[in-house]
Amino acid sequence: MDAAALDEIIRNRRTIKPPMMGDAPVSEEDLQAILENANWAPTHGLTQPWRFRVIRGDARGELADAFANLYETAIPIDEQKEGKADKLRKMARLAPVVILVCMERQEIEKIRELEEIEAVACAVQNMHLTAASRGLGAFWSTPPFIYKPEMNTYLGLGEKDRCLGIFYVGHPSADTNWPKGRRQPIANRVEYVGN
Ligand SMILES: Cc1cc2nc3c(=O)[nH]c(=O)nc-3n(C[C@H](O)[C@H](O)[C@H](O)COP(=O)(O)O)c2cc1C
Repeated sequence: MDAAALDEIIRNRRTIKPPMMGDAPVSEEDLQAILENANWAPTHGLTQPWRFRVIRGDARGELADAFANLYETAIPIDEQKEGKADKLRKMARLAPVVILVCMERQEIEKIRELEEIEAVACAVQNMHLTAASRGLGAFWSTPPFIYKPEMNTYLGLGEKDRCLGIFYVGHPSADTNWPKGRRQPIANRVEYVGN
């Protein structure tokens, strides 16, 4: 294992949003690596609760329109922000690949829902790191409408399943510099006990 390579990927992984992505397609090899590595995330009870829907090509337009529509119907009017629906109508059209990230609730509900959500988050981090290692930008987006029942209906999810995000993937456009990260030192967030 190459520890230094992993450190570099983790620390240089960045969120790159669709307006910063170019038209260059994501290769099948890169896409499959992203999905395969997601599948290797840890899960309590090996439930592998993640479910992905990969949207490409013209289907992105339909998705973008559906997002705008969901925003306008599922979010109370007094909570809607000016221009947000129009922004949503563009977003999915601007990324070559859009992956809907969902959690399928186990029928027997043996594992806590929180742990199933945590497992999906681990899978998304694997996706993020895989994308970064291949020079791809990615963005985990969680607009509030994804948590609404209307989203489950749109995706055909069960009542206890959840959509946990929209994961946009694409190559940074030619005029996009890879963003610099920013973090508080870890020392501020760790307490050592014993030695
Ligand atoms: C669970 C989760 C949900 C997120 N949802 C959003 C979002 O809805 N909108 C957004 O702009 N960024 C979202 N982000 C991305 C963060 O803004 C981003 O990770 C943070 O700014 C740090 O930047 P970096 O990823 O480049 O290190 C989300 C990140 C996580 C982990």
